[in-house]
Amino acid sequence: MFKIGVIGSGKGSNFQAIADAISNGSLSGVEIAVVISDNPNAYILERAKKLGIPAVYIAPGKFKTKLEPEIEAQYVETLKKYEVGLVVLAGYMRMVKNVMMNAYRGKIINIHPSLLPAFPGLESFKQAFDYGAKIAGCTVHFIDDGMDTGPIIGQRAVAVYDDDTPQSVHERIQVEEHILYPACVKLIAEGKVRLDGRKVYVQGKFPEINNLIK
Ligand code: GRF
Repeated sequence: MFKIGVIGSGKGSNFQAIADAISNGSLSGVEIAVVISDNPNAYILERAKKLGIPAVYIAPGKFKTKLEPEIEAQYVETLKKYEVGLVVLAGYMRMVKNVMMNAYRGKIINIHPSLLPAFPGLESFKQAFDYGAKIAGCTVHFIDDGMDTGPIIGQRAVAVYDDDTPQSVHERIQVEEHILYPACVKLIAEGKVRLDGRKVYVQGKFPEINNLIK
């Protein structure tokens, strides 16, 4: 079994999409070993409990956008305890710092609601909308030391229409996220993804991780 740990601060729809893909057989050989949250009220923890997956809350300490090294060490301890080989950030609202990077460099992935490198940071769907972009989307990437700067594994694009709102754009993006993220996890679990510097090479052509592929 390829064991993953999911870390999230919010509603957990991407976690749910991965869990659903496992239970309907499209993501076989993968097990969600643990879910961790920095938010005691995050719905992602409820979702995990409903599925019988260990759901762990780790109190975040004094910072808003990162964790102190001692607290990151608790994350690493928990991930190791559950023998996690891939860390999947799904709506995790903090920067990953050294302790976790040193333990899992090249083995942490994130999903971001824009076509990176456009619109890094918060509420990227709103940034794209406010900017007047006609195409928005989502990106799954490996984490590096920067914010939303890591090597890109896959992207899916959506149209932005004149009568959209930031929320309607986000909803459209999330539909694509729920296709993109399970597919990226599957390809990594199958050993089809190779990271080489800034580039990610995927063995084969998969429209699930790039909806412009013909
Ligand atoms: C997603 O839009 C993701 O791209 C961003 O945060 C949101 C998380 O949504 N990083 P959910 O908690 O998975 O529903």
